[in-house]
Amino acid sequence: MFKSVVKRLSSQQVRADFNDLRAVVHYTRAAHRLGLWASEQQIFDDHLPRRKTARILEAGCGAGRVALGLHARGYQRIHAFDFAEELCAQAQSLFLEREVGSAITLFHADARKIARHPAVDSLQFDAALFMFNGLMQIPGRRNRRSALRSLRACCRLGAPLIFTTHDRDHSKLERFLWQREAKRWVTGTQDPALVEFGDRYFEDDLGRTFMHLPVRSEILADLTATGWHHHWDAMRRTIAKEPKAVREFSDECRFWVAHAA
Ligand SMILES: C[S@@+](CC[C@H](N)C(=O)[O-])C[C@H]1O[C@@H](n2cnc3c(N)ncnc32)[C@H](O)[C@@H]1O
Repeated sequence: MFKSVVKRLSSQQVRADFNDLRAVVHYTRAAHRLGLWASEQQIFDDHLPRRKTARILEAGCGAGRVALGLHARGYQRIHAFDFAEELCAQAQSLFLEREVGSAITLFHADARKIARHPAVDSLQFDAALFMFNGLMQIPGRRNRRSALRSLRACCRLGAPLIFTTHDRDHSKLERFLWQREAKRWVTGTQDPALVEFGDRYFEDDLGRTFMHLPVRSEILADLTATGWHHHWDAMRRTIAKEPKAVREFSDECRFWVAHAA
């Protein structure tokens, strides 16, 4: 008898999923047409340095939606990177089309190793971003902590880190679904591709998506363990009312702001 062996999800698989044409079209369309969410605009107003010469490091920039939004707000020293080559290529052509010049430096890199990348070298950033749940698309808590540690190493003391996650605790329905999932983990009947409790891996029209859904205490512990001071967090619905196009692109999430300790 042959036993079927299911490979545990890896970052290589996640990268391949983001390089898939369906995902590339989805994020490229958002970079061209959607722009910054109302909640992102509010958080950037409240927490990014006001100085437009501040150096901003954006992890998981995808096809450039957020970097372009920052550029439109006047920021002139943005470093944006992603580990999916196809998304970087789309960002590159959009930046050319929008004539951002030297205001955005785009490069290909993995957030877990960003502090050692030649493009950031000895630069000290005034802020770091990992928007639209990109951090939670890194499988394995140890790997997510590596990314947080590496981003911390790139930032000056006190610099804000802004990112979003889901929250498994945020509604009755979520809690009910995750209680059911917990029973699967107890009996070993969970999807064998998953790395940890809280993970989801699914396929729809936009391709395959990996996402880790944390609880609040998990993120607080991860920040403390990686050199960040928690500053503030809130669910998106409490920050701004998003237009339909944004709600169709992205579901509810929690915004986080931490400071480099
Ligand atoms: C949900 S998409 C968001 C893209 C873009 N920030 C936006 O809001 O449209 C998450 C992004 O994080 C990137 N990503 C995930 N893991 C990464 C890693 N370890 N290093 C760099 N980028 C990563 C993915 O390739 C993807 O582009």
